[in-house]
Order: sequence, then structure tokens, then C-alpha cells
Amino acid sequence: MLEREIQEQLTTKTFGRRIFSFESIDSTNTFAKSIAQDAGEGTLVIAEEQTHGRGRLGRSWHSGKSKNLTFSVIITPDIAPEYLGVLSLYAGLCVAEAIEERTQLVPECKWPNDIMMSGKKCCGILSESTLVKGKAVPVILGIGINVNENDFPPELRTVATSLFLEAKRMIDRVDLLAAILKTLEDWYRLIRENDYARIIHGWQLRAPMMGRAIAVQQNGNIMNGIAQRLNTDGSLVLCSGDMEMNLMAGDVSIIDGYRS
Ligand code: BTN
Repeated sequence: MLEREIQEQLTTKTFGRRIFSFESIDSTNTFAKSIAQDAGEGTLVIAEEQTHGRGRLGRSWHSGKSKNLTFSVIITPDIAPEYLGVLSLYAGLCVAEAIEERTQLVPECKWPNDIMMSGKKCCGILSESTLVKGKAVPVILGIGINVNENDFPPELRTVATSLFLEAKRMIDRVDLLAAILKTLEDWYRLIRENDYARIIHGWQLRAPMMGRAIAVQQNGNIMNGIAQRLNTDGSLVLCSGDMEMNLMAGDVSIIDGYRS
């Protein structure tokens, strides 16, 4: 994807105005981390192919070359470390809104940082930061979207989907990327103002798991309960009997299956 192609479609002031674009790279997040200190707000690192794309919890992220979107955005929010979890919700909400605007599909958010369609994952987010004297600056928002993937390996077919498979048409990747950067820039105002409640609220409106019976897998343990709400730091309140647990991470499945 050429820098010029992207720049021509941008409607933002800062997000995506500085671009590092690669045909192939190990991981856009790894590269973004290496330049983050001097890169500037909204710098975009994008690649047609990642040889070592990384996911949450040490997993890997595979994506067919030149079919999808794999990119990282560098931000430097003035955010207390305990609120860092909000940033992947912010990114997820922005990606979901932009996908809906450009495709008319209705993506759903799944805690903590997946975007789903028809009960299958179409986007994953890996937000990373390094703490400097107790403050986290800068933060890398790593976003992988299955855009025009037309087939998945058999072991992924029941759990992964793409915008192409859902919309039954090819999606313009540059157009979608520009829409995501615009949404990220627009909602970033709330991050700068430390107004996380509106982000959490917007995210919950797109999350069918809220209020439902769920199972959360965390470090080999499974916890069952009702997904009550999110706290303003992005943690999930799981209600089990008369006990409330605040969870910072985990893999969620809705116990009574998917309903749209
Ligand atoms: C997950 O679902 O576990 C998160 C996947 C995040 C993948 C993206 S692709 C762009 C960026 N670079 C990476 O190495 N990972 C993120």
C-alpha cells in the first residue's frame, strides 16, 4: 500500500499524516515500538505482510499478504497506567464504527479487544506500551482486520470471518483505513480529556455479551457468571451469585451461544 495512496484519502489533521509503509516486516507493533519515542502523535506503521505478527497473550497473528489490514498507530495520551485498558476498547469502538460506516455491516465488540461478526472474529487489537516513571507513553495500537480474506484454514473457519465474506463484496482497504484513522482522531479528544465513560458506554452498546451468561478463561481457570458492566478503567465486572469480580484480561465465550 503506497504512502501516497493513503495520504490522498486521509481526512485527518494528524492521524496517519506520518506513515511508515512496508511490503513485508516482522510486526508493525514491533517496528512502531522501536520508533515510538520520536514518532509523533498518530504516526501510522502499515505492512502488506507480517512475518511475525503478534496477538494477545503471546499468540501469533496470521494474515494473507495484500488482502487485509495490518497496522499500528502510535499515540501519546496523558493517561494513568491503571486506565490503559481503555485504549484497546477505544480502538475497538473506532474500528467497529468505521467498518459500519463503510460497509453497512454491524460489527460487535467482544471484551477485551476483538471485533466480531456473525459470532466470528474479524479483527483483533493488541495495545502495547512501556511505562516511563510510572507513566505510559507512548502507546502502540496494533490493529489486524480480515478485510478481503476469502478463505481460512479449516481450523479457523468456525471462528474467523472477513468483511468480504460478510458483505459478499470486495472492500476498498485504503478507504476503510482512512475512515478508521478519522474515527480514531475524532474519539481521541475524549482520551485527551480523560473522559473514558463515554468510550465505555459506546463500546457497551456494541457488545451483545453484556448482561449475558459468559465463561471467562484466564490463566487456565474458567469463571462463569453474568457480564454485568465495564468499569471506567475497562475492566469487566463478572457477577457470580452474590460475588462480583473485576477482570482485567481473559477469553470470553457467551454460554448460551451467539445471538445477533
Ligand atoms: C489478537 O487478536 O490477539 C490481537 C491481534 C493483533 C494483530 C495486529 S496486526 C498489526 C499489529 N502488529 C502485530 O504484530 N500485531 C498487531
